[in-house]
Amino acid sequence: MRTQVVVIGGGPSGLLLSQLLHVHGIDSVVLERKTKDYVLGRIRAGVLEQVFVDLMAQAGVADRLHAEGFEHNGTLIAYEDDSFRVDFRAQTGTPVVVYGQTEVTRDLYAAREAAGGNLIFNTEDVAIHGAETDAPYVTFTVDGQEQRIDADFVAGCDGFHGISRQTIPLNIRREYEKIYPFGWLGILSETPPVHHELIYASSARGFALCSMRNENLSRYYIQCSLSDSPEDWTDAAFWTELKRRIPAQFADSLVTGPSVEKSIAPLRSFVTEPMRWGRLFLCGDAAHIVPPTGAKGLNTAASDVHYLLNALRDYYENGSDQGIDAYSQNALARIWKAERFSWWFTSLLHRFPYQSEFDLKMQRAEIDFLRSNDAAQKAMAENYVGLPY
Ligand code: FAD
Ligand code: DHB
Repeated sequence: MRTQVVVIGGGPSGLLLSQLLHVHGIDSVVLERKTKDYVLGRIRAGVLEQVFVDLMAQAGVADRLHAEGFEHNGTLIAYEDDSFRVDFRAQTGTPVVVYGQTEVTRDLYAAREAAGGNLIFNTEDVAIHGAETDAPYVTFTVDGQEQRIDADFVAGCDGFHGISRQTIPLNIRREYEKIYPFGWLGILSETPPVHHELIYASSARGFALCSMRNENLSRYYIQCSLSDSPEDWTDAAFWTELKRRIPAQFADSLVTGPSVEKSIAPLRSFVTEPMRWGRLFLCGDAAHIVPPTGAKGLNTAASDVHYLLNALRDYYENGSDQGIDAYSQNALARIWKAERFSWWFTSLLHRFPYQSEFDLKMQRAEIDFLRSNDAAQKAMAENYVGLPY
């Protein structure tokens, strides 16, 4: 088989890249280790930056997103029993859009399939060869058969545990990491959201987040111990703990119900540099991870796709290497700012083990400053709605 770009990974970054390449007349093959249903069963992000929505429109897959996504013009920040609102629209002129990663992925699969895109599922033993040459190729096994695809480029969109990053030799690859001493326990429940906007809550018992997918589907998270497992938490225990961490006015009106999904995610900041090795380009979680506070994971994956698409278009349409040579630098410049924001927002709102009385006072002073200072709110809002590409 031969194609222009082999895309490893059929998550949101791989699918979006493949669809955008198709719109611009560039051929690709997507290799996914799991099945489509498995990928669609993962409940993950829920808040999209406007620049991501625009990218979905460029890919021709934004009709349902425009019809069913919810624009949010602001968010509440709560601490103990108090709260204040940061107005994204007033501060930046831009809202964010609440639309689940599952739906983004579903729309992208539908578009790729409608366009006759080549998606290969259940691929095993994917390996990248000759990335440092002008003739890279990828080998893999599917249904027990060994296959080979020759290509001009390989896009590593295979997430944090994929093989693409590992293909870059250790003497070239540099990794930066911070592991946080807690996780997030999340549940999805078919109940109306407690408030029409998200609530990010800091409390003495730890962080909590009230989010949503639609009028009758809520997503809630609480900071938990890394040693917890979802089975340790009954639904009743979850609701009790959530109510203790949000202001009474919301706790009193919270509608509870059975969870339809419950999972724990560890929190990590991670960046690998460079994001390109020869003809191999990393995109999304394959290259970087943010802690979820601030909803930047999926959005940073999309910004990489934007930079890589432009780089590949420059190559195919103008015969220029300039775009691909600048890809890593351009993508990383925006990634590090999203890393900073996610780290800051995580540090602001969570309780850390061994926090001193001084540390707690600093956290509180920073929340008070954010509450009372327009410039601080503007900086927060600009980062939350997404820095420009
Ligand atoms: P992925 O979604 O990880 O997709 C990579 C794909 O590659 C997968 O489908 C995988 O099966 C496939 N793959 C892996 N290895 C191979 C291989 N060797 N060969 C072929 N295919 C392979 N972000 C937020 O903003 N908010 C959240 O609430 C949030 N919650 C999250 C919860 C969890 C448990 C996790 C793991 C992430 C969460 N994120 C969240 C982050 C967000 O979901 C990711 O940033 C986003 O999915 C990145 O997309 P991606 O396509 O780069 O990677
Ligand atoms: C969601 C997740 C986040 O990490 C966040 O900051 C906001 C919303 C969510 O899953 O809805």
